[in-house]
Amino acid sequence: MTMNNDFADIAYNRKSIRVYDENVKIPKEEMLEMIQKSTIAPSSVNMQPWRFVVVESDEEKAKLKPLIRFNTRQNDTSSAMLLIFGDMECYEYGEEIYDQAVAEGKMTQQTRDDQLAAIIPYYKNFTRQEMNDVIKIDSSLAAMQFMLVARSYGYDTNPIGGFEADQLAEAFGLDKDRYVPVMILSVGKAVEEGYNSIRLDAKEFTTFK
Ligand SMILES: Cc1cc2nc3c(=O)[nH]c(=O)nc-3n(C[C@H](O)[C@H](O)[C@H](O)COP(=O)(O)O)c2cc1C
Repeated sequence: MTMNNDFADIAYNRKSIRVYDENVKIPKEEMLEMIQKSTIAPSSVNMQPWRFVVVESDEEKAKLKPLIRFNTRQNDTSSAMLLIFGDMECYEYGEEIYDQAVAEGKMTQQTRDDQLAAIIPYYKNFTRQEMNDVIKIDSSLAAMQFMLVARSYGYDTNPIGGFEADQLAEAFGLDKDRYVPVMILSVGKAVEEGYNSIRLDAKEFTTFK
């Protein structure tokens, strides 16, 4: 594997790729490494509410196919389809996260106790809408980071929002009330260049006050 460390190339030459080399499989360890690096993304109170399901087998891809509307080419040719969910009960991991920070000497026990005492009730009191918003923002940041990390590993991606959001969790054995679908990312070795898309001028949508 050759790593690309050229930030400008990784970030500014990223394009949505929708057709991949079907013969390329991404080893599990490499996929886990890319996911691990993606979760260096920030999240609200470091609760890390993103959950990943890597759909890579033919059987599971067949299950996904009827749920992804017009995005079947990506499903058919990618090394994997990464389903990203947000966990509505992410606070269940609060103690584990903050305990690990203490164990690794990154936080004092007192800070851990004070912060958790504030955060857990705060999170538990969220309305469904508030929690939904928080976990979608956080998980989207991890998704963006995955798209860039994948490029550093020589792969490309396509973010996909066109899927049956009401059926995705259950189809993959997850509780749909707890796991909210955020985005699907197809990932693999590009065999097309992608489209050249335009961007509006920053002056058009930026105000300085
Ligand atoms: C949240 C989100 C959902 C998207 N959904 C789809 C999709 O369902 N199918 C698709 O082909 N592209 C999808 N796209 C890709 C966009 O069309 C693409 O990012 C945009 O046209 C800019 O092109 P670029 O990614 O090549 O820069 C989605 C992008 C985002 C961020």
